[in-house]
Amino acid sequence: MADLQRLKEEFVKLYGGSAETVEAFHAPGRVNLIGEHTDYNGGYVFPAALTFGTTMLARPREDRQLGLASLNFPGQVKHFSIEDLQYDEADDWMNYPKGVAAFLQQEGLAFQRGYDVLFSGEIPNGAGLSSSASIEVVTGYGLLALEGQNPIDTVKLALLAQRVENKFVGVNCGIMDQFAVANGKKDHAILLMCDTLEYDLVPFNSGAYKLVIANTNKRRGLVDSEYNARRSQCEQAVQALQARIPGLTLLGELTLEQFEANEDAIQDEVVRKRARHVVEEIDRVKRAVAALKEDDLRAFGSLMNGSHESLRDLYEVSCKELDVLVEEARAIDGTIGSRMTGAGFGGCTVSLVHEDAIDAFKAQVGAKYKERTGLEAAFYVADIGDGVKRAE
Ligand code: GLA
Repeated sequence: MADLQRLKEEFVKLYGGSAETVEAFHAPGRVNLIGEHTDYNGGYVFPAALTFGTTMLARPREDRQLGLASLNFPGQVKHFSIEDLQYDEADDWMNYPKGVAAFLQQEGLAFQRGYDVLFSGEIPNGAGLSSSASIEVVTGYGLLALEGQNPIDTVKLALLAQRVENKFVGVNCGIMDQFAVANGKKDHAILLMCDTLEYDLVPFNSGAYKLVIANTNKRRGLVDSEYNARRSQCEQAVQALQARIPGLTLLGELTLEQFEANEDAIQDEVVRKRARHVVEEIDRVKRAVAALKEDDLRAFGSLMNGSHESLRDLYEVSCKELDVLVEEARAIDGTIGSRMTGAGFGGCTVSLVHEDAIDAFKAQVGAKYKERTGLEAAFYVADIGDGVKRAE
C-alpha cells in the first residue's frame, strides 16, 4: 500500500490547506483464480483481492464542489458541482468517481458538503486487474464513510459500483470485479454465486506455491465489442434451450448433465461452444474449490489449465500473447497451473508456481515471451489482501 505520509504531502501541495482533516481509504485490485465469463451467466467465480490497488485521500470542503485529481495523471485537477455530475468522455478516468457520487445521490444519499479527492493507483491500467472497479469501490466507500455512514454495506456498494460501470460509464460487465474488490479478505479467495450473491471466503493455503501474475502488456482493443458479443451468444443459448427446459433464464442454472442432454437444441455451433464453456467452467470452479479444501493444489492447478484451454478453444477470448505466456509458464518446472485471467484479449495470466522456481519463471518466461511476441511482460508475485477499508 502507498506511503500515506507522502500522499498527504502531495494532497496539500495540490489543494493547499493542511493535512489534518484528510482521510484515507484503500481498495484493492483483484485476480480471478478460476470461473471466467461465468458471472453474467449466474454462475460461480473464485477471485481474490490483491494487496495493491487504489488509495483515495479526501478532505471536506466548505462548498458543494467535488475536486478530483490523481497522481497517475499529473496536472489534471477538476472541480465539479457535486449535485450535477454528468458523464463526459473528455473527463476520462474521472467519470468513475463522478458516476459513483452521482449514483450515491440517486439512491438517496444527500451530501452534506463537497470534497477534494486525490487518488493514487498502483494497478496497471488495462491489465485486467480491475483498476476501474477499484476506483469505483474506494470512492463509494470513502464518500459514505466521510458522510458518517457506519457500517457500510459492501455488498450493496459492489452492486452500486457495477451499476455505475453499466449505466454511467457504459461498460456491460458482470458483478465479479466490484464484488471482489469490496468484499475480499487477506489470504482468502471468494467463492461467489453471482446469481444470488451468496458467498464464502475460502482460505487460500497454497504453501510453497505462489500466485504469479504475468502481464502481456498488450493493449486490449477488442474487449468491449467481443465481450458484448459473448454475452449475447449466451443469451441465444438460453433461448434455444428454453424449447427443452421452459423457464430457464441463465446458463448457470444448468448442471453439466442437463446441458449435455439438451445441447442439441442449440443449432448454432459457435453458440453451443460458448454455452459449453460456461457450464463446464462453473463445474470446474466447484471442483477447484473442493480440491483446495483438500489441500490438493495439483488438482487445483490442472483445473486452471483446463479453464485456459476452454477460454482459448470454446469461448475464444484468449489471444496469442496470453497463449504464449501460458505455454511458457507451463514449461517451467515448478509451475502447476497457468491460465488467462479476466475478460481476455490481452491483460494478464495467473500461474501457481513453486517459490523456488519464481526467479527462473520470471527470467525464462520473460525472455521467451519477448522472443515470440516482441513485447516485454511484467510479473507480480501476488499476495491476497483485504477488500476496501480505511487506509492506515
Ligand atoms: C471482466 C468483467 C467481469 C467478468 C470477467 C470475465 O473482468 O468485468 O464482470 O465478466 O471480465 O470473467
